[in-house]
Amino acid sequence: MARAAKAKINLSAIEHNFKLAKSLASESKAIAIIKADAYGHGAVAVAKKLEDAADAFGVACIEEALELREAGIIKPVLLLEGFFSPDELPIIAENNFWTALHSEFQVDQIRQAKLSCAINVWPKIDSGMHRLGLPLESAKAIYHELKAMDNVADVVFMSHMACADELDNDMSARQLACFDEAVAGIDADHSFANSPSILSNKKSHRQWIRAGLMMYGASPFEVPQEFAQQLKPAMTFTTEVIALREVAVNETVGYAASFKCDKARMIATIAIGYADGYDRHIGNGSPIIVAGQAAKIAGRVSMDMVTVDVTGLNDVAVGSVVELWGEQLNVVEVANAAATIPYTLFTGVTKRVPREYCE
Ligand SMILES: Cc1ncc(COP(=O)(O)O)c(C=O)c1O
Repeated sequence: MARAAKAKINLSAIEHNFKLAKSLASESKAIAIIKADAYGHGAVAVAKKLEDAADAFGVACIEEALELREAGIIKPVLLLEGFFSPDELPIIAENNFWTALHSEFQVDQIRQAKLSCAINVWPKIDSGMHRLGLPLESAKAIYHELKAMDNVADVVFMSHMACADELDNDMSARQLACFDEAVAGIDADHSFANSPSILSNKKSHRQWIRAGLMMYGASPFEVPQEFAQQLKPAMTFTTEVIALREVAVNETVGYAASFKCDKARMIATIAIGYADGYDRHIGNGSPIIVAGQAAKIAGRVSMDMVTVDVTGLNDVAVGSVVELWGEQLNVVEVANAAATIPYTLFTGVTKRVPREYCE
């Protein structure tokens, strides 16, 4: 019998969530962001499911884009950070990849390249996040420079929000205003919106949305939000109980003896650990589901095992199914308990955990 840990990926849920993004921005074209192996859900499987619905896919680097082509995906693929060295440019041209351009050196390298065909470029403007992007004041000059190059086909301006997940933060409005001023009078498409902006900020939708986290069924917000509540969880991460013991009052459980029994407690040991991507910051008292019932983590997460307080639960036995997050327990609750975000939990699930796909 194999170790029970697995991540069930519901591809219909991903399709539902992507279609929700599209319906909220029905005038826009939609990029499905499947970088980092589709946030741990499997880039090829997700791309195959969405190949009809998506206008393009978004990845972080050329290796991720080539993986899609090797799997037979033919839709355009946007490299969100562009290329890292000029020898990627001929590959970009041959494969109909689109490239972000976040710096002058990338613009220079496109100018100097010898390409088999012109490529679509997405100059990324730094509208206030100050992580990546060309200065606001250079937008117009760069546009005209790019349009004059034989190596360049379409130009789409993109930018990225710093605080879109904070619903009452006015930074998004300020970023949009700076961006609009920088590109005023230029006849080019815009792309701004990631999941929180798609869900909450119509003004950001523009001609191209970029949907990531929401496709995987997790809300980017810390508070309930009308449309986020319509998302369906795509990943259900489960394992099984492998041992059960009663631990006496005042005894402790696990490394550093961080959980002390206030009375005799029934402790289940489950086959999951930080080497599977079950974050070590998911500490004492964090939520988990055992045999369909709410339970709490008791003690530290080990590399391959976790201990859970199942005192008073019904029908818990070796072999009982445990849900770490998914259909019964929202990943956001687990992320909150670990002072992290669903993005890190999803992308952290390691290759030791088999992905099982269902519709
Ligand atoms: C440039 C860019 N666009 C879009 C996204 C998708 O964001 P989200 O997962 O919040 O939808 C990301 C993700 O980090 C990104 O880096």
